[in-house]
Amino acid sequence: MCGIVGAVATRDIVPVLVEGLRRLEYRGYDSCGVAAVGEGGLERVRSVARVEDLAGQIRKQRLGSETAIAHTRWATHGAPVTHNAHPMISRDEIALVHNGIIENYEELRAELQARGYQFDSQTDTEVVTHLVQSLYEGDLFQAVRRAVKRLAGAYAIAVVAKGQPHRVVGARAGSPLVVGVGANEMFLASDALALAGTTERIAYLEEGDVVEIDLSGFRVRDAADREVEREVRVVKAGSATVELGPYSHYMQKEIFEQPSAVAATLEGVESVAPALFGKGAERTLQGAKSVLILACGTSYYSGLTAKYWIESLARLPAQVEIASEYRYRDSVPDPSTLVVVVSQSGETADTLAALRHAVKLGQKRTLAVCNVATSAMMRETRLGFLTHAGVEIGVASTKAFTTQLTALYLLALVLAKLRRRLPVRAERAHMKRLRQLPKALSAALALEPQVIAWAGRFAKKEHALFLGRGLHYPIALEGALKLKEISYIHAEAYPAGELKHGPLALVTREMPVVTVAPNDALLEKLKSNMQEVRARGGELYVLADADTRIAPQEGMHVIRLPEHYGLLSPILHVVPLQLLAYHTALARGTDVDKPRNLAKSVTVE
Ligand code: M6R
Repeated sequence: MCGIVGAVATRDIVPVLVEGLRRLEYRGYDSCGVAAVGEGGLERVRSVARVEDLAGQIRKQRLGSETAIAHTRWATHGAPVTHNAHPMISRDEIALVHNGIIENYEELRAELQARGYQFDSQTDTEVVTHLVQSLYEGDLFQAVRRAVKRLAGAYAIAVVAKGQPHRVVGARAGSPLVVGVGANEMFLASDALALAGTTERIAYLEEGDVVEIDLSGFRVRDAADREVEREVRVVKAGSATVELGPYSHYMQKEIFEQPSAVAATLEGVESVAPALFGKGAERTLQGAKSVLILACGTSYYSGLTAKYWIESLARLPAQVEIASEYRYRDSVPDPSTLVVVVSQSGETADTLAALRHAVKLGQKRTLAVCNVATSAMMRETRLGFLTHAGVEIGVASTKAFTTQLTALYLLALVLAKLRRRLPVRAERAHMKRLRQLPKALSAALALEPQVIAWAGRFAKKEHALFLGRGLHYPIALEGALKLKEISYIHAEAYPAGELKHGPLALVTREMPVVTVAPNDALLEKLKSNMQEVRARGGELYVLADADTRIAPQEGMHVIRLPEHYGLLSPILHVVPLQLLAYHTALARGTDVDKPRNLAKSVTVE
């Protein structure tokens, strides 16, 4: 993971890079740093606190330069301490920042040590820095081109050299890197978002590219060392959307943006049409005999929900797999399978690798459901559906989830229609329900005061169980993930019917049990499971629908959502669970938007 930003300019560019780091903190925030080319040599400032602290140190030390590189880190090799923070410097001559993982770093480290290089960190990055230095004879572009030939693994790097003002060299393989074209200034960044408000003119580098930027522009050599052009496009990264406005946290803002995010995702969707998924979608989707959904984390749970929809609406067999498992197991490929990758970022390393693995196995009917139009997944799949959640900054995914669900519901409807299982009247009814979703989401958000009362109790607990059945089991999983991710309370989710097969042993007065209990066909079964909990003294927190006959009583707290919403109910029932996690975390005083050990975009394996 980690974030890179580097620049050459005719003004002091360090404050711009610091702003870029703020925008990149979603990629990791264990430490951060800047290295600048100064008149006297390379200068560096690093911090193991947040970018704010780095900015303070920069001001104090009056660090300024027209050429600099900066980094925000998510630790892989070596603890998040200052000596492992980037930029790394080799022999006062080369400074380098790096995203990704160098797989052959031990071998290179031994070789460089034998040649007299001293290592001050436990990182794989320092190996690359010394390697570039060892190959540097005054031409930085050439030294980096030679160095990357020795690297195995995934990386994006940016490098500067002492006495080389207005020159930054970058390279990428397996980790993204873009070039930003400004007015008489040039940038490198791991994401166009880092440059929001500075430039919208972006060139995406390709696998194996090495790039050199200076005041006159940029030059690229591809993996075969040929000079190549990379198109500069206008990318609206939307600087305004990353402002917090009246909210205390991005997660809170993003939870409350769900009605508008879902409305934006549905904008222009007039009917259930294959074309919603891209050019030629009808042919690709028509021939699909089954569906395989690949994803990680929250996106995996949206895939699990979609399985129920696809099988019940389209009667098409659907499988959902955790991408990091699928990519390494012996599966039985079927060219008629529609492979769907679901990802907020479109850059998650395991999901991207799983997609490439599926394609390599001959499964070419690919579709991405994704929130970033320019992401690798959107570029590498035959079909795509862009969710219009807007930029999601909080590490805990919220509006990305509900917009993914909206998109996947549309996919289930399209598949049903192509298989002649969606009569016109049913199509109209589904469309009507979808259009009412933003309003229904607002009604779910209005439950916040009741959820806050629950959160006060949860904040004092160390464990929680989440139960759901059928379509709402993935929602229970998502509720548990949200709670553990930001409040650090251990939470597990079970299909309620599984309770008696083991987890019931955990139930005591100290164990809050959240139950997702919509008024659907499984409600009566679920009520029996709730009795099993009550009989053991467990405290129930029930999310029911207005029309569910469950009354609050001793040991049973009930929040009622508006009327039952049929197949779309999971999209509403997740909202109080997001709010529960948020307010519990708030009460426990954790860092809601940047929970410990995590990062927003998981671009390493
Ligand atoms: O960008 P992606 O949707 O591919 O990310 C997948 C997971 O890393 C992500 O959903 C993660 O589980 C979230 N932090 C959960 O809130």
